[in-house]
Amino acid sequence: MDAMSTLRDQRVVIIGGSSGIGLAAARQAVGQGAEVIIAGRSAERLQQAEEALKLPESGVSSHEDIHPAGRVRTFRLNNRNEDELQSFFDRVGAFDHLFTPGASYVRGPITSDAETAHSCFEGKFWPQYNAVKYAVPYLSRSGSVVLMSGAFSQRPLGDGASYAACNGAIESLGKALAVELAPVRVNVVSPGTIVTDFNWEGASREKREESYNAYNDMCLLGRTGNADEVAHTVVYLMTNGYTTGSTLFPDGGYILR
Ligand SMILES: NC(=O)c1ccc[n+]([C@@H]2O[C@H](COP(=O)([O-])OP(=O)(O)OC[C@H]3O[C@@H](n4cnc5c(N)ncnc54)[C@H](OP(=O)(O)O)[C@@H]3O)[C@@H](O)[C@H]2O)c1
Repeated sequence: MDAMSTLRDQRVVIIGGSSGIGLAAARQAVGQGAEVIIAGRSAERLQQAEEALKLPESGVSSHEDIHPAGRVRTFRLNNRNEDELQSFFDRVGAFDHLFTPGASYVRGPITSDAETAHSCFEGKFWPQYNAVKYAVPYLSRSGSVVLMSGAFSQRPLGDGASYAACNGAIESLGKALAVELAPVRVNVVSPGTIVTDFNWEGASREKREESYNAYNDMCLLGRTGNADEVAHTVVYLMTNGYTTGSTLFPDGGYILR
């Protein structure tokens, strides 16, 4: 793959591709002519995503020659379950790029109970670690992995020590895997606050709006981000053939303010 390649005719696997940042990345990959395999727990959400990816805005129906039908496949998968991860990759077979945004967790202060304290590692770190473990036999040597972190790693607030540590661990994992798996490239995307359906531990709409407004004052660009902006970073990391071991922060300058 050269330095300025696209995802045309590449096979891209996105675990957590049925909504938010993963779905936006799927749409951009399909738009470049990739075959995209999306996985998640909810069959209904997967089906909705598959339908959404067929809409003209994805570019699929307007470029049938480049994007023939069947360019999107869906699999039900709970990425906390190692057996499911292994059989998922056995069924997918050889592919080029892996992106692993699928996660669900809660966070809390240091006084939280053990379940809350372990939640981010259980729901976000180990699922990504294990996904790479079972993907490796099938991953193209000219391909890549993009792990999902979060800019809280570099600028924590006062209510999520284990969440900050988890994201820091994911960023270190990216570097270690870049060394271990070369020439496969491994990078990390570490976004700021992005408006998606992420359930925020079931927080009310008002609480979310409050956090979004607070974020406007906490970053240099004065606004939250959107899923397409993060997906653009992910596609860059998949397609730039000389970038490995990097963490990029589509965060509007949150970590500098
Ligand atoms: N939004 C933000 O502000 C922000 C900021 C920094 C980092 N991030 C990170 O970005 C990632 C995605 O966030 P998002 O905002 O795009 O959320 P989202 O819209 O809720 O999307 C999450 C996706 O992951 C899937 N998923 C969740 N748990 C899963 C599991 N156990 N196994 C397999 N798939 C699972 C979901 O589908 P199912 O529920 O059907 O499984 C869905 O497809 C998370 O890792 C989050 O930490 C988000």
